[in-house]
Amino acid sequence: MNQTQTKRVTVIAGDGVGPEVVNAARKIINATGIKLEWEDCEAGAEVFKKGFASGVPQDTIDSIHRNRVVLKGPLQTPVGFGEKSANVTLRKMFETYGNIRPVREMPNVPTPYVGQNVDVVVVRENVEDLYASIEHMQTPGVAQCLKLISHKGSEKIIRLAFEYARSQGRRLVHCASKANIMKLTEGLFKRVFEKVSPEYSDIEARHIIIDNCAHKLTMKPSDFDIIVTTNMNGDILSDLSSALVGGLGFAPSANIGNEVAMFEAVHGTAPDIAGQNIANPTALILSAVMMLQHIGEFEAASAIENALFVTMEEGKCLTGDVVGSKGATTDAFTGAVIDNLGKKSKHVPEREFKPMQLPDVSRHPVSVFPEKRSVIGADIFIEDDCTAGELGESLKALTVGMPLLLKMISNRGTQVFPLTDNLTDCVDHWRCRFLLDEKMTDEQADVVITDFLIRLRGKHHWMHVEKLPLIDGENGFTKAQGED
Ligand code: NAI
Repeated sequence: MNQTQTKRVTVIAGDGVGPEVVNAARKIINATGIKLEWEDCEAGAEVFKKGFASGVPQDTIDSIHRNRVVLKGPLQTPVGFGEKSANVTLRKMFETYGNIRPVREMPNVPTPYVGQNVDVVVVRENVEDLYASIEHMQTPGVAQCLKLISHKGSEKIIRLAFEYARSQGRRLVHCASKANIMKLTEGLFKRVFEKVSPEYSDIEARHIIIDNCAHKLTMKPSDFDIIVTTNMNGDILSDLSSALVGGLGFAPSANIGNEVAMFEAVHGTAPDIAGQNIANPTALILSAVMMLQHIGEFEAASAIENALFVTMEEGKCLTGDVVGSKGATTDAFTGAVIDNLGKKSKHVPEREFKPMQLPDVSRHPVSVFPEKRSVIGADIFIEDDCTAGELGESLKALTVGMPLLLKMISNRGTQVFPLTDNLTDCVDHWRCRFLLDEKMTDEQADVVITDFLIRLRGKHHWMHVEKLPLIDGENGFTKAQGED
């Protein structure tokens, strides 16, 4: 084992089964003999009780800034509205933009996929998308959540997926997206994948539509190696993939940022079995293996992984989630893994690991500089309980004398004015698309849009405006269903 330098890790035992599974992983790491110094820190339920609304005290934040590597148990999410999720606080605070969730077939764990060598990694973007939590009630009956996908965020996660593939000697990266429907957001993710992937010519790159990916992953998981995807897709797909190998008890994860990496099981605090010494610590142990690989302790990582596989292969000491009521205790399972340190698995092939190169992406907020851009119109969102025809005629009358043309109105994405034969069931939320005179400067466009909003006042209630950009000759907006 590496006996050179002592590395320090911030450890958060967490809530519920957290302390049981974190201690199991810690004991096993200590038993390998590597020099690790643990800095115990608090977060979660007890911290909320002390009055910290974020669930994470300053001491913990300072420790993470110092050590940059965290082994973490699950944290209970408060039910009230006053407090934030401590997990989300940690992920956002340290910009851990990449969530890596590997799943691998485990010996003696009964699943419908036994013998298929499931070995899949979902690399999920962890910060953007619908999880940016920018939501508004646009009318009392219509809610909106902004789906934010950036070129920069996409590039970071896509490069991370390829770098992770290289560090593990993996051969295939799928990009899973819904680019066929969300052409600008999911489409941007796909376009960045297509731009970046040729730089990794040693790894095969394929695109797959997300729903097809879920279907194929369930039918034939061995066709997949690494799947990189946006936040919401990844949330669902990674839970699906953990079910392929026996469930949450076997699903580890890493939250990777440029400065900080946090390693934790995918499962939660399991309040139904907490404090009973029966939790399966495998997911946390595998998360600790990922942590050791991250800090370059490859020998210890491999020893623990092998000992875990051997313990599973022996099948003498498996926990209740695998074998039912006669399951072994968490302590007994942990002891068996420690006893098996130094043994090699007969069935699970060992993988070569190399240190992972983290993507080097500029800290500058802007990552795309177009040659030409202009504003060619605006979508004005109006709340009204009139009909499409009434609203359209009224808006046309209001544009008289202004350099502004009502192009169309849509309701929940489908054009309803000029009137169509569609059987659209309308709600009181109208997207009204206006085009500006082509020769107008952006400054003039701002004045016209503002003047028109003032003209609208008193007649119709507008709640939101979105400018229509033209970027390097391409529309920076999509057409409504039925719009020409
Ligand atoms: P959960 O993952 O805690 O439990 C779901 C089921 O899986 C339960 O039946 C539980 O007994 C079982 N289970 C989970 N881990 C297990 C293990 N290691 N061994 C054996 N069985 C295990 O999900 P739930 O009940 O939805 O969430 C409970 C709490 O955990 C909530 O407050 C939730 O917000 C929080 N949570 C925290 C996470 C984190 O800190 N990363 C992740 C997910 C949930």
